[in-house]
Amino acid sequence: MSGTIDEIRSEIDALHEAGTYKTEPVLSGPMGPTVQLAGGAEVINLCSNNYLGLANHPDVLAGARRAMDAFGQGTASVRFICGTFGVHLELEKAIAEFCGTEKATTYVSCWNANEALVPALISAGDAVISDELNHASIIDACRLCSKKAERLIYSHSDMADLARRLGEAADARRKLIITDGVFSMEGDLADLPGIVKLAKEHDALVAVDDSHAHGVVGRTGRGTPEHFGVTVNIITGTLGKALGGAAGGFIAAPAPVIELMVQRSRPQLFSNALPPAVAGGALAALALLKREPDRVGHLQENVAYLRDGLRKLGYEVLQSPTAILPIIVGDTAKALRLADAMLANGVLITGFGFPVVPEGAARLRAQVSSVHTRNHLDQALKAFDAIRSEAGD
Ligand SMILES: Cc1ncc(COP(=O)(O)O)c(C=O)c1O
Repeated sequence: MSGTIDEIRSEIDALHEAGTYKTEPVLSGPMGPTVQLAGGAEVINLCSNNYLGLANHPDVLAGARRAMDAFGQGTASVRFICGTFGVHLELEKAIAEFCGTEKATTYVSCWNANEALVPALISAGDAVISDELNHASIIDACRLCSKKAERLIYSHSDMADLARRLGEAADARRKLIITDGVFSMEGDLADLPGIVKLAKEHDALVAVDDSHAHGVVGRTGRGTPEHFGVTVNIITGTLGKALGGAAGGFIAAPAPVIELMVQRSRPQLFSNALPPAVAGGALAALALLKREPDRVGHLQENVAYLRDGLRKLGYEVLQSPTAILPIIVGDTAKALRLADAMLANGVLITGFGFPVVPEGAARLRAQVSSVHTRNHLDQALKAFDAIRSEAGD
C-alpha cells in the first residue's frame, strides 16, 4: 500500500521536475474584471469565464438570496424523490425560452448534463459521433455509453470526415452528432451549418454544447445556432460561465428528449438537484441578459479590441467571434513560465499544457469580459508587450 502511495508521490515529483505542476491562484474577493490575490495585489483578470460580468452582479446576488430564503440550502434529495423546487421549474422554463426549445432540465454542472445526455440517448445499436476536440465531459460521456453502441470520432471540424463516420454508422438505429459550439481551448466555432446539413442527409440528431457561447456568441447571446441562423435538436450549456458564474448545467431539447432525461439520466436519478441559490442566481442572470442585451455587443467590442492589440504586438490570434484568445507557445513549462511573467506584470492569465491540450501545443489563453474597461485591456496589452521577447523565443 505505502509502495503505491510512494509511486503516486514520484508521479507528482515528476510534474515539479518538468515545471508542469499547476498551482491554483487563491483570491480574497469576488470574480470581476480585476481580482484580489490572497495576500497580494489586485490584478487584471484575463482567465475567467465571467464573460458578462454577472458573477458578482447585485441582481444576480439578490436572485440567489431570494431563492435561498424561499427554499433554504438545498433539496437534500434527488429530484424524483422529493427534490424539485419551484425555482428549478422557473429556471428550466427560462432556459428553454432562451434556447428556443420546447423544454429544458438542469443538473449540478454541464459536466453532469453531458454525462447525462449521451448515455441516456445512445444505447446498444445506436451511434454517437463526436468532434476530436470536444470538451472532456463529452469525451467521457461518449465513453459511458453502452459497449454495444458505436462511438465514432471525426477530425476537428472536418465535414468530409464527419460524412465518412456517418456513412460507417449508416445501420445504427439512432445517430447523434455531438460538438462543442465554441471549442474552449481553440476559441473557434463548430461548423454548425455543415453539421446540420450532414445530419439531415443522414437522419442524425445534433447536440451542441454551447457553454462558452451562451451570453457571448450571436446577436443576443443565444449561442452558435443564433450566430449561424440554424436550428439544432439539443443544446447543453453551463450556468457557471456567462449565465451567473456559479455552477450548474442544463439540457434544452424537444419535450420527449427532456422527459427521457428526467426518467433515465443517471446524474439526475442518483444525485441532488441544483442548489436553490444557484438556480435563483442563474434565473436572475438570464433575466438580466434579456433586459440588457447590449452587454453582448460590448463584450464583442472588447474582444475585437484585445485581438487587434495583440496582433499589433506581433502575436498570432485566430479571427473568431468568441471571447477566447489562445496564444500558442509550444511547450507546457514555457506556457506556465509566461503566465508567471504576466502575473509579475499585473495580469492573471492561465497557461495550459498537457494533458489539457496536446503535447507541444501549450498556450496562454486570454478570456475577455464585457466589464473590462479599455484601461484594463490597455494594461493587459502592456503586459503582453513586456513578455513579448520571451513569448517569441
Ligand atoms: C464546452 C464545455 N462543456 C462543459 C463544461 C463543464 O461545465 P461545468 O463547469 O458546468 O461542469 C465546460 C467547462 O469548462 C466547457 O468548456
